[in-house]
Amino acid sequence: MDIRIDRESAVPIYLQISSAIRELILSGTLPEGFRLPPERRLAAALGVNRSTVLSAYHELKAGALVDAHVGRGTSVAPRPGAAARVGAVRPLPWRQFVRDGAMEMQDPLLRDLLALAERQDVTTFSVGLPAAELLPLDAVRAVVEELAGTVGPQMLLHSPTEGVTQFREALGELMTARGIQRSAAEVLVTSGSQQGLDLAARVFLSPGDAVVVEEPSFFGAIQVFRRAQARLLGVPADRDGMRTDVLEALLARQRPKLIYTLPTFQNPSGAVMSLERRHHLLELAYRFQVPVLEDDPYYDLRYEGEAVPPLAALDPHGYVIYLSSFSKVLFPGLRVGWLAGARPAVRQLALAKQAMDLHSSTAGQFLLDRLVRGDRWQKHLETVRSEYARRRDAMHTALAEEAPAGVSWTRPQGGFYFWCRFPDHVRQSQLLARAAQQRVSYLPGDACFPDEPPANHLRLNFTFPPPEEIRPGVARLMTALRASARKPDGDRRRGEATPPIV
Ligand SMILES: Cc1ncc(COP(=O)(O)O)c(C=O)c1O
Repeated sequence: MDIRIDRESAVPIYLQISSAIRELILSGTLPEGFRLPPERRLAAALGVNRSTVLSAYHELKAGALVDAHVGRGTSVAPRPGAAARVGAVRPLPWRQFVRDGAMEMQDPLLRDLLALAERQDVTTFSVGLPAAELLPLDAVRAVVEELAGTVGPQMLLHSPTEGVTQFREALGELMTARGIQRSAAEVLVTSGSQQGLDLAARVFLSPGDAVVVEEPSFFGAIQVFRRAQARLLGVPADRDGMRTDVLEALLARQRPKLIYTLPTFQNPSGAVMSLERRHHLLELAYRFQVPVLEDDPYYDLRYEGEAVPPLAALDPHGYVIYLSSFSKVLFPGLRVGWLAGARPAVRQLALAKQAMDLHSSTAGQFLLDRLVRGDRWQKHLETVRSEYARRRDAMHTALAEEAPAGVSWTRPQGGFYFWCRFPDHVRQSQLLARAAQQRVSYLPGDACFPDEPPANHLRLNFTFPPPEEIRPGVARLMTALRASARKPDGDRRRGEATPPIV
């Protein structure tokens, strides 16, 4: 079998092997019943691990291209046509139709976490949601009534791809309050910031292009960049945000297409990039001519301390594409966010959006337009800021009192998360399942690193769970943590099965 492996490719080797064999089967080169080489032999021939070949064979089996039988090895399955002739229609092997690389996106861990968040009996620290009970439903009711009488059916029709004009103007004003000077014409309304990330990846990235991301970074962005088959260049971040000295050294060697950063109340670490580093980062972007994607959904959620201007407010040269969203302060379910930047960039992003979903929800934009203008917005911000500060303090106290020695965290000045580090003798692989048994969920830190995660971390959200659940939830999580610690004679437990998460 002629199988060529490209070790530089972003496509994992097992997928390269499975697609090469798939080609050979579909072209008829390998006939029905043909016995594929034993995994060990093929692995030796290709110079890869046996587990890589095993994964490739699994992939082919999932696509119904091969059959595997104990003792008889793996052989090419009968062709769909053969079965059809005898009257049975074989199930369509959908995995075969999914383009190469796309399967990498599937992360069962995150899927399990979302399933867990649905359960009523679980204290959910894993998601990044606002408190449901603080959403201003009365204001929504009043605004919908108002809109029905004034805007009428127009709020339920199509709207421009760039966004409803008056709403874009309101966003311009909202950004002015953050120090960002962008006119309505430089704004594109998006279906959440997540779409802004996806649009940026579609417009700017080709497979193999490099993107700078903080370590740790927002896992939703890491997924988007991976899906675009980009190379992720991690730059460590500390309490003052991205280490721009490391970025400088990196830019001297590499030419990334984008620098992705979350300077304010970073997800997951909660860090705020210092003003000095913000200036340094922009200086580097200008010197090396790299656009900056600034993700800023938490700007308004500061509970103490002085605001630091967004990068977009410090950038007179139009290098920054600014993303923000209403998902953290108001309604994640409306799926309304926005981006703003230099016109040529926004134009391309709008064209990509048009192909994707024509425009974001018209009704959602009219609704938010009314909500963000005037007193309602300020009142709501005051409510959530004071309540989230209270919950943040409740979680800080609970951690201080319940966490065993060796667990560390930073009390965030704003945003949604505590980023905790736990000792190495805690078995990460056991912790998530033990926490689920304790009816508590968190986001494992691994998901937030582009490469090998350096140490044991977890992210805890404090805004979504009801305040009275925070303390007992943290206590149960710490029980799970203690139960996951490796015993001094750790070997005795080796081989113990990891309990299922859900
Ligand atoms: C940093 C960051 N960017 C983007 C998003 C996506 O938010 P949206 O609901 O606006 O798509 C989130 C949500 O968790 C986030 O934390």
